Amino acid sequence: MTTLCVNVDHVATIRQARGVDYPDPLEAAKLAERAGAVGITVHLRQDRRHIQDRDVAALRGVVAGKLNLEMATSDEMLAFALEHRPDQVTLVPERPEEVTTEGGLDLLSQGRPVAAAVDRLAAAGIDVSVFVDPDPRQLERLAALTGRGVKGFEINTDRYTRGEAGQIELIRRVAADGGAAGHRVYAGHGLTTTNVGPIAAVPEIEELNIGHFLIGRAVLVGMVAAVREMLAAMAAARPTA
Ligand code: PXP
Repeated sequence: MTTLCVNVDHVATIRQARGVDYPDPLEAAKLAERAGAVGITVHLRQDRRHIQDRDVAALRGVVAGKLNLEMATSDEMLAFALEHRPDQVTLVPERPEEVTTEGGLDLLSQGRPVAAAVDRLAAAGIDVSVFVDPDPRQLERLAALTGRGVKGFEINTDRYTRGEAGQIELIRRVAADGGAAGHRVYAGHGLTTTNVGPIAAVPEIEELNIGHFLIGRAVLVGMVAAVREMLAAMAAARPTA
């Protein structure tokens, strides 16, 4: 059964739009876990446009399952992660002007800073995942990082969710090869109840990180109902699981 980590960044987006103290990402996290999410994901961006440092600190004490912190490999973020010790850090690329994460980490050009970040996080006992595009060349580079403590990788589903031809085949191949190489395989970006099925059906993908669609849906039907709808769509893709 594929599990779900709910990204609550955009609860904070709504809060930050007015500079008030509601809606509270902590409350959203509690409701998401109550509805069946196995964990909560947040992206602490360098510009702090949604999640704030205090949110991560507070979530650490509230999340019963896995707290997954997405972050860039900067010294500031590494120091933050080492202080607050999430269960998992997912390393992502970050460009200040981007609307959302634009692509996976390029392990071909960024291997050195990523390896340095992995070393520091793994030495502190924090599980590390890296967000990469479904590209077999990235997987080849991942092997070097595995020896340094990377436990898994998250496949960027962005281009699949935009309907790009050939993406689902690439995702299946990278998931199969990654799983066979002993990595834990996760996926996410742009997933909705409509497009999640083929991704949830990939046997090696054990966990999905889903945010924007879920929070948008929660505005209309509530957090618990939105998470349950997503879990039902995921389960329908693997009826015998
Ligand atoms: N995974 C990663 C690495 C991300 O950066 C994001 C966006 O913050 C997501 C998953 C979730 O994407 P979405 O909000 O489109 O569901």
